[in-house]
Amino acid sequence: MNTKNIPLFNLKQQHESIKEDLNKAALDALNSMQWLLGPRTKAFEENFAKTLGAKYCVACSSGASAIQIALMAAGVGRGDEVITTPFTFVATTTSVTLSGADFVFADIDPLTFNIDPKDIERKITKKTKAILPVHLYGFPADMDEILRIAKKYNLKVIEDCAQSHLAMYKNIYTGNFGEAAAFSFYPSKNLGACGDAGAVITNNKDIADLCQSIRHSGRSAGKAYEYDREGSTLRMDEIQAAILDVKLNHLKKWTEGRVQVAQMYRKYLAEVPQVILPPCEQNGTTQSYYVFTLRVKDRDGLSEHLKANNIGNAIYYPVPLYKQPCYSHLNINPGDFPHTEIAAKEVISVPIFPELTEEDVKIISDEIKEFYKNKR
Ligand SMILES: Cc1ncc(COP(=O)(O)O)c(C=O)c1O
Repeated sequence: MNTKNIPLFNLKQQHESIKEDLNKAALDALNSMQWLLGPRTKAFEENFAKTLGAKYCVACSSGASAIQIALMAAGVGRGDEVITTPFTFVATTTSVTLSGADFVFADIDPLTFNIDPKDIERKITKKTKAILPVHLYGFPADMDEILRIAKKYNLKVIEDCAQSHLAMYKNIYTGNFGEAAAFSFYPSKNLGACGDAGAVITNNKDIADLCQSIRHSGRSAGKAYEYDREGSTLRMDEIQAAILDVKLNHLKKWTEGRVQVAQMYRKYLAEVPQVILPPCEQNGTTQSYYVFTLRVKDRDGLSEHLKANNIGNAIYYPVPLYKQPCYSHLNINPGDFPHTEIAAKEVISVPIFPELTEEDVKIISDEIKEFYKNKR
């Protein structure tokens, strides 16, 4: 019986370790009297783009708004269809709807849990305008195939990088593959604000300019009350930008810490027949490990066992999006998504954060082994 409390996320420990810098940055921003679109937002945008090897970053109010802005800036809107995965956080699809377009689901690959390019190709219609892959759990989607399909059918690609900060696909950071990419800085994310925040990155100047306008009510560049298009109030505030800029200095080190924890899990859970570990890094493809997700037998039983032993865990995601009440009117047939159906029943995420110790990983792994002892 484990008596130690091991949470799924441990935001407090990380916050405490850089508290003085965060307090100073936030207070400076507060007292600057320039709370929106000031020098701190600009600095964070430059630094985040540079970190990812991208040309432009446009900071905004959340990951959800980043997806919406990116789609709108890429020219996706009313009458268009966007192909995406049903095995993701709901903001992926709500943002498509808010852009004015309709989403269409493609099933996932059973090994990576990411959108399956073969099913994308089956779902293309005359209305298809874009593909919206999600790098789920921080594991990069199959970008070579997605880009090949996009080129063949003349589609835009917008990456949902809400969970993939600093994850690489073939030695290039995710976010650099399509027209634009959306990042979330929700507090629990690998780079988390102290509130809501997000960003679009792009290597296309026209798209960057459009994103800047859309996040700022659709304002014409350099004009006070002239609007070339409709946008909304989707800016990031200066206090969040200041906080994120402090945290950005630690992101590489924190990501390495997550990778090390993942390696420990791989060591301790290598020979548990009921547990399938997430795919390994290969060919320059690295993971950000937003969460460490196992595919297991008797998932709900394991979840209860871990909870009873003070070990945090969560299911990302127990209900495929097409089964959500908000989408019941779409009458989508679950039978069309066999891999999503199984994944929703078998995945479980266990604690992973840079400060997690080897002792903690061993305790968690031992409890997992204990649960499956004497089970087939
Ligand atoms: C895959 C995915 N997409 C989009 C979002 C939306 O981000 P936010 O919560 O910052 O709006 C999240 C995060 O919550 C996410 O995990």
